[in-house]
Amino acid sequence: MCGIIGYIGKRNVSRIIIESLERLEYRGYDSAGLATLDGNDLYLCREVGSLENLKAVLKDYPMKGSLGIGHTRWATHGEPVRVNAHPHVDCSESIAVVHNGIIENYLELKEKLQSSGHIFKSETDSEVIAHLVEDYLKNGAANLEQAVFCTLMDIQGAYALAVMRKQEPRKLIAARNGSPLIVGIGEGETFIASDAPAIIPYTRKVVFLDDYQVVVVEDDILTISNINGTPVNYNISTVDWDVNAAQKNGYPHFMLKEIHEQPQIVKSILAEKIDFRNLDLKVEELLKIKSRILQAHQVIIQACGTSFHAGMVGELALEYFTNLHADVEISSEFRYKHFIAEPGSLIISITQSGETADTLVALKKAKQKGLSTFSLCNVVGSSITRESDSVFYIHAGPEIGVASTKAYTAQLFCLYIIAVYLGVLKKNIKPELKNNLVKELTLIPALMKKVLGVEQQIAHCADKYAAFDDFYYLGRGVNYPSALEGALKLKEIAYIHASAYPAGEMKHGPIALVNPNLAAVCIAPRSATYDKMLSNIQEIKARKGKVIAIATEGDEQIGRFVDDVIYIPDIQEIFSPLLVALPLQLLAYYIAVKRGCNVDKPKNLAKSVTVE
Ligand code: G6P
Repeated sequence: MCGIIGYIGKRNVSRIIIESLERLEYRGYDSAGLATLDGNDLYLCREVGSLENLKAVLKDYPMKGSLGIGHTRWATHGEPVRVNAHPHVDCSESIAVVHNGIIENYLELKEKLQSSGHIFKSETDSEVIAHLVEDYLKNGAANLEQAVFCTLMDIQGAYALAVMRKQEPRKLIAARNGSPLIVGIGEGETFIASDAPAIIPYTRKVVFLDDYQVVVVEDDILTISNINGTPVNYNISTVDWDVNAAQKNGYPHFMLKEIHEQPQIVKSILAEKIDFRNLDLKVEELLKIKSRILQAHQVIIQACGTSFHAGMVGELALEYFTNLHADVEISSEFRYKHFIAEPGSLIISITQSGETADTLVALKKAKQKGLSTFSLCNVVGSSITRESDSVFYIHAGPEIGVASTKAYTAQLFCLYIIAVYLGVLKKNIKPELKNNLVKELTLIPALMKKVLGVEQQIAHCADKYAAFDDFYYLGRGVNYPSALEGALKLKEIAYIHASAYPAGEMKHGPIALVNPNLAAVCIAPRSATYDKMLSNIQEIKARKGKVIAIATEGDEQIGRFVDDVIYIPDIQEIFSPLLVALPLQLLAYYIAVKRGCNVDKPKNLAKSVTVE
């Protein structure tokens, strides 16, 4: 949802900004731009479309200066045209602003500013910031920071913003409320960024800003204050993500690289969470809230997008292993819902980024209601982690592909660990069963590798179906969420219509649309409902639909009823979504590649949705 970057130091800023924007581009790619200051000269360059277009212009006109700000946009207010691209400037073109978020009262502010003579060039909400700062400076603010503090008092809504002014060429100001922002501290240089991967090649020392904090950097003097101007103490954290983790490392796309990272990620989670000597699970994150968990009778899971699908599997796994009553909610609905929770209930928020606005607000609401808050998150120091009583990091490393893959299976795996752990804690799982479950979990990395071994077969299958414009994804039980996730992947990256149903629902409507031009991906591994699934498959074939089945190795009979089969190794049903996810990801990936889609940057999407 837009990425922002700011730099003040001694190096050429335009290169640093472009490199950082490359790592932020997953947040939006409707347009990109930067502004730099060289002495008292302000330079501005903005281009519509991906960063490549901006880079092409800068190749012939490199920008000077060692202070600057940059932006990559996911359009909210105003179409993706150059005039709406950031940075935005004031009337005198001496103040430049980049902004991520939404200024909710911008229309009112804009009208007021226009009536006092300000001329606006864009349709964005963000431009009001530049004019407000200009207005305060015109009306007596002593310097840029004073004008920014006054501006922040006027604006309502979410923002991560950075501002600079040509009359104060050694000063960079940034502020945060509701949108992520970090400060990177280097040797004689300071960075402002929407997230850590943007700046890890330059520094690993970061300060995670809180809401209503303002950063003023003058040369290399850094001050962080609250919105009233009172300086605050801050902690410097060290980010341990590998720089290579944010590179493609020879893969054509981040998505494919991230699909291939899954066995290794699960292996590292195992190393951290399992005591291999006695097959015990170590979940310190839950120990912190153990006494409350022991009293809890209910767990609510809330999340958006792919994380919600992981949450659906989590709900089933929790009920299966713990006997606790579990519910799963979509955050954007849950935040407005009148919900009833038993006292002491636990809420689990699942989020890759830790910044999804709906998930964050829903978490705050649950907190107000007195629930224990536990989060499953990938990004260390993100907003949701700081709002939660306890955090379980999935440690999947930076996920750059907009369509989530490795974070999904890491979330699933962590949810299984949590469910089994709570099952033991609640005395619902006996030691022997626990040992067997843990043993089975330790096999997952090798089984995932085996699934990745049939990649070429999946690529051929993708070639065969790439021209289809309608897909159904069908599954039952714990693989209904897998079907939803498979369909979502196809929609996200290949722009193909795909609907997912619990297979038993077909006869209540969806079967009406089956025809020879519809492809149904039927998830039919060994399970308690395998026979029912087989009947559903036959019902589709009887209506001449095409069927691609995902089945368990050794299942010879399914081949007689379907057009194509992708086999996964045998695994007990409850854990099967961990393996099913991989062929679904690869199928969507290869179909998207075959259709010539931009896999890592699908249109209209952003990785981190920090607006409502
Ligand atoms: C966006 C992303 C999805 C992601 C969802 C939730 O829609 O494109 O990949 O699943 O947000 O994000 P979160 O960071 O909360 O998991």
